[in-house]
Amino acid sequence: MLTLGIETSCDETACGIVDHELNVLANKIFTQEEYHRRHGGVVPEIAARAHLEKINDVVQSAIDSAGISAEDIDLIAFTRGPGLIGPLLVGASFAMGMGSMLGKPAKGVNHLEGHLGAAYLNCKALSPPFICLTVSGGHTEICLVQNHFKYQIIGKTRDDAAGEAFDKCGKILQLGYPAGPIISKLAKNGNRDFIRFPQGMNMKNNFEFSFSGLKTAFLRKMSEISEDVKKKHLNDICASLESAIVEILVKKTIRAAHKNACSKVVVCGGVSANHYLRQRMQEDCTKQNLNLIIPELAFCTDNGAMIAAIAQLRENQHIFPIRTQVKPSLSWND
Ligand code: KG4
Ligand code: ZN
Repeated sequence: MLTLGIETSCDETACGIVDHELNVLANKIFTQEEYHRRHGGVVPEIAARAHLEKINDVVQSAIDSAGISAEDIDLIAFTRGPGLIGPLLVGASFAMGMGSMLGKPAKGVNHLEGHLGAAYLNCKALSPPFICLTVSGGHTEICLVQNHFKYQIIGKTRDDAAGEAFDKCGKILQLGYPAGPIISKLAKNGNRDFIRFPQGMNMKNNFEFSFSGLKTAFLRKMSEISEDVKKKHLNDICASLESAIVEILVKKTIRAAHKNACSKVVVCGGVSANHYLRQRMQEDCTKQNLNLIIPELAFCTDNGAMIAAIAQLRENQHIFPIRTQVKPSLSWND
């Protein structure tokens, strides 16, 4: 059985194909970064139009690179939310049109669950219970997963998402969009103790996060130091910022695993591509005897293979209701 996954929730036009054992046959992504860079963030209308322009080519190139024909596909999955309404509608319409043309089902999946699907591509035997930290540009949430496809949110951000914190602080430094990967690169050689930035909700004995205070503190600090110092210590500033974001993510996730007697931790979403987060999470999981599962880099940020993966997993377990309505504010169990 072959499943094709279409992802268009934000600014990536993506298509992946997996087989019933979750082997990835193709994973093609057209990233719209160039379209949005000069605006400093994603412009929904521009994103929707770019998806419309590119989706046919991206899907065709995934089919070609898998060495199959469209008729070989058994199931078409698409992201139905959360995300931007225009971009979601483009992916959903394309998937449903393709489904009716081929006489195959088209089913909507949850983007957040899709990120978790990426973890199954690396670790096919992954099974609940586990703690799942999802960190992306729009979400920062810790879920307790006690059964397949049942998610108990035990903590989330009260304001900005972790990826958003990277991007907003990067904008202050005029690093370009998205700033997360750029900060990550610059931070590699930096002094993490150069500036002590606040870690929101650090003293609170819960699993909630807050990153808006960090952004304000960052803005204030950057206005206090001279352009020369900023230039000279850019690596140190990025490393200090990255540490403030990463340390609180690691601390609360590990605590959630202990509190809920889970021996497995999954980290997924675009920010899970962050080198330092991967390193620190691994160090602390090893110390605490926890098994850490993180998708490989190609499957961390938005992609079609993760959408195909979670669809295939649901299909294999016969828990895949047909839902086609797009919903920008979809949450975990919707
Ligand atoms: O999951 P994703 O591709 O899209 C959403 O669903 O939001 O995540 C994108 C977010 C952006 O905020 C981006 O800056 C961040 O993930 N990101 C990173 C890295 N790669 C992507 N943040 C820090 N370090 C990275 N290496
Ligand atoms: Zn995402």
